[in-house]
Amino acid sequence: MEVLDWRALPAFDADLLAPSMPDDVASLVTRIRSADAVLIATPKYNFSVPGMLKNTLDWVSRAEDQPFRRKPVAILSAATGPLGGARVQYELRKILLFLDALVLTKPEIFIGRAFSKFDPQGRCTDATTRDFVTAQMTAFQQWCIETRAIKVGAGAERPVWK
Ligand SMILES: Cc1cc2nc3c(=O)[nH]c(=O)nc-3n(C[C@H](O)[C@H](O)[C@H](O)COP(=O)(O)O)c2cc1C
Repeated sequence: MEVLDWRALPAFDADLLAPSMPDDVASLVTRIRSADAVLIATPKYNFSVPGMLKNTLDWVSRAEDQPFRRKPVAILSAATGPLGGARVQYELRKILLFLDALVLTKPEIFIGRAFSKFDPQGRCTDATTRDFVTAQMTAFQQWCIETRAIKVGAGAERPVWK
């Protein structure tokens, strides 16, 4: 598993995009394109998608032949509140729908009261949460296998509305 870091990305600006994609964005696009699948783990900010995650998706979505198209994606969220980020996940699904990503539907993982489930090093200490995440990763592996056939060039002849 490779962890993508978006901290170096500028705020999305079409004027920056006009000459060519910034290097940091281009490298992110290349890494997403070459990945078998993408796992998005996110907190919830003000009932919605954290700005930096949205900014990253906005940049990546502007790439020629954007790399989320037909890419298997799984989502999990952790938040301070009891819902564990339910709202952010549906906002995220909406964005990924437009990008034609193949988002795993079930099981959904919402880690509520996250402050009580991780140690100071960020390791999950809650057995139930670990079991849920393991179940999701097993389903995601199966999803990646099932979707492999449609990933290759599917729908490439259709016009893509950016
Ligand atoms: C700007 C901002 C908005 C937030 N909004 C929510 C929210 O709507 N619901 C919620 O449960 N937690 C919210 N949180 C708390 C995040 O869930 C929490 O920061 C996240 O679990 C990551 O934990 P950490 O900040 O200790 O790394 C917010 C945090 C920030 C910084």
